[in-house]
Amino acid sequence: MRDAARAEGDDGGHYRDRGTQVSHQCRLPACSVVEGLIPRDRREWIESGPAHGDPMTNNPVTVIGLGAMGTALAETLLANDHPVTVWNRSPEKADALVEKGATRADSVAAAVAASELVIACVLDYAALRSVLDPVAEKLRGRVLVNLTTGTPEQARSMASWATEHGIDYVDGAITAIPPMIGLPESLLLYGGSERAFDQWSSTLELFGSAKFFGADPGLPLVYDLALLGLMYEVFSGYLHAVALVTAAGQDAVSLNPLAGGWLNAVLTWLPEFAENTDSGHHPDTGSSLAMQARGMRHMVEARVAAGVNADAPAYMESLMEQAVAEGHGADGTSRLIDIIRKRG
Ligand SMILES: NC(=O)c1ccc[n+]([C@@H]2O[C@H](COP(=O)([O-])OP(=O)(O)OC[C@H]3O[C@@H](n4cnc5c(N)ncnc54)[C@H](OP(=O)(O)O)[C@@H]3O)[C@@H](O)[C@H]2O)c1
Repeated sequence: MRDAARAEGDDGGHYRDRGTQVSHQCRLPACSVVEGLIPRDRREWIESGPAHGDPMTNNPVTVIGLGAMGTALAETLLANDHPVTVWNRSPEKADALVEKGATRADSVAAAVAASELVIACVLDYAALRSVLDPVAEKLRGRVLVNLTTGTPEQARSMASWATEHGIDYVDGAITAIPPMIGLPESLLLYGGSERAFDQWSSTLELFGSAKFFGADPGLPLVYDLALLGLMYEVFSGYLHAVALVTAAGQDAVSLNPLAGGWLNAVLTWLPEFAENTDSGHHPDTGSSLAMQARGMRHMVEARVAAGVNADAPAYMESLMEQAVAEGHGADGTSRLIDIIRKRG
């Protein structure tokens, strides 16, 4: 077992952090968040040897679904001395893994029968059900860890299906890309059967840091989608900022030295928004919503004049105007979370 990937931790009591603390150093000017997520040489990590001393190391594991992600999962298990049985709808995708020591199952039923732990990672939940429905009875008494991405409701419905068939079920969300699997910087979120997670956590931690959210199998995907939404809205903000700068005849890269420091400052404000939401108090720290609503109008007008889409600032403006209309114009930005939830 790699000690570095086994640090027990706790995060405000919301989930159990069983993974590595990621060191956050950044390549962006004055920013300190991203570097910890840049893949190191994954080969160097996973080929550095098996997880010595781990009692689960020699237990067989089945991997169903050998796309980019399933292949990375299976490779990591093989590199850590687990006997691995694999199945994929297109069988040729198992060829390279078989060369590395995996056993190719001729059918899903044979794949399921080969191991107590079955890990599934296919395109979506519809594909997952089409693969697993016919072998539900064969899965009875086994542990199914599903790393397919979907919605929280799909995860909960899959868990009900598993319970009906006597399957110990853990749903997981992978907040990493395939080259990161096997590195401690990769983060996987889990929820569902605590017994199954505890039994297999040392194996699951081979894929990266593991956080267990408790019995609700939908929570990993709630957090996964929250993080992905955060990422894409940051992308969107940056892309529109570049569009505005270049529309003014400037080089895109001229934004970078300013954007790095700006993002770093913005990051320091965010935790307070969540704290305010939990406490129900939204103090104005010098930037009232009434003032910011006026600022958003300027943003909309400037973008329209430059030929840059203004949907995002127009939406923010509408949230701020609603807060003002509801009597919260003197509050701070975090009050908007209430308005966003009301609009549902
Ligand atoms: N790649 C990433 O960066 C990443 C990151 C986080 C999470 N994920 C999640 O991981 C899951 C797999 O992603 P991936 O990157 O491995 O995708 P992928 O490379 O496109 O592979 C898709 C897999 O699903 C299988 N599949 C699709 N439709 C099927 C069906 N109807 N019946 C049986 N099998 C079917 C494919 O089988 P065939 O080979 O026969 O087509 C293949 O094994 C997805 O839910 C994805 O959202 C991916």
